[in-house]
Amino acid sequence: MKKFLTCLLTLAMVLSLAACGGSETPSGSGSTTTPPAQSGNTSDGSSDTGDTAAPTFTTVEEGKLHMSTNAEFPPYEMTTDAGGFEGIDVEVADAIAKKLGLELVVDDMGFDAALTAVQTGQSDIAMAGITITDERLEVMDFSDSYATGIQVVIVKEDSPIQSLDDLANAEMIGCQKATTGYIYCSDSVENGGYGEDHVTAFDTGALAVMALVNDQVDAVVIDNEPAKNYVAANEGLKILDTEFAVEDYAIGFAKGNTALLDAVNAAMGELIADGTFQAIVDSYITAE
Ligand code: ARG
Repeated sequence: MKKFLTCLLTLAMVLSLAACGGSETPSGSGSTTTPPAQSGNTSDGSSDTGDTAAPTFTTVEEGKLHMSTNAEFPPYEMTTDAGGFEGIDVEVADAIAKKLGLELVVDDMGFDAALTAVQTGQSDIAMAGITITDERLEVMDFSDSYATGIQVVIVKEDSPIQSLDDLANAEMIGCQKATTGYIYCSDSVENGGYGEDHVTAFDTGALAVMALVNDQVDAVVIDNEPAKNYVAANEGLKILDTEFAVEDYAIGFAKGNTALLDAVNAAMGELIADGTFQAIVDSYITAE
């Protein structure tokens, strides 16, 4: 049944793409009777649809897929020298948008703002190496997970902090604001954290790492892939062997935006099945 639905969906998308000549305006004039796979902001002009009921969804802006993100998180999302955006999330979102007949628009903002934007309907998806947590599930929905993230600890090579246990002795831990690293570390000692007084929230991970380099914090807790980037870019830093937490990344949606969520999951499933997804990952992360 699932397979059958996927086939229908694929067929509908192929037809709709063909109908609009691959352009990003699915509701082109003088088109055939084939309905587009998505229904923009306008619900009229839908004429006589075929008998296949393609799931319809609306997007913030017709013909576009707005992705809110925080492009300070290599290799998932970062800015290019030319002022554009790149990274695993950006390329995967672009491939998903194309499958849905939409044009990707990247809206760059603070990490907490990126989460809020999708919840309040200012963006269609939030994609920012976002960890699925119970608290977030209360205010937003998530796609199927597409990656594993690991919270790791960065210290100076000669730091007295050489294990997770030592982290309890840190005077100050640096994290990126609103991230799971911050949430875990700032939790009370009874709950396995280190207490708010021992954690500083920085606007970006890079600023937290800069503070470590400058001895303003004793350790940084952050996701492993950005951590590798920062350690490679700064002399004298290392990542502790012990992992702090293992998490699942997923795409965030407004609560109840099931039509879009289902369409994105289906598109992602195809990108995984045909190898596109792995090829994107491999172009940013080299296997050790
Ligand atoms: N995975 C962590 C979280 O969900 C950190 C994500 C930070 N992402 C970013 N683009 N800055 O809280």
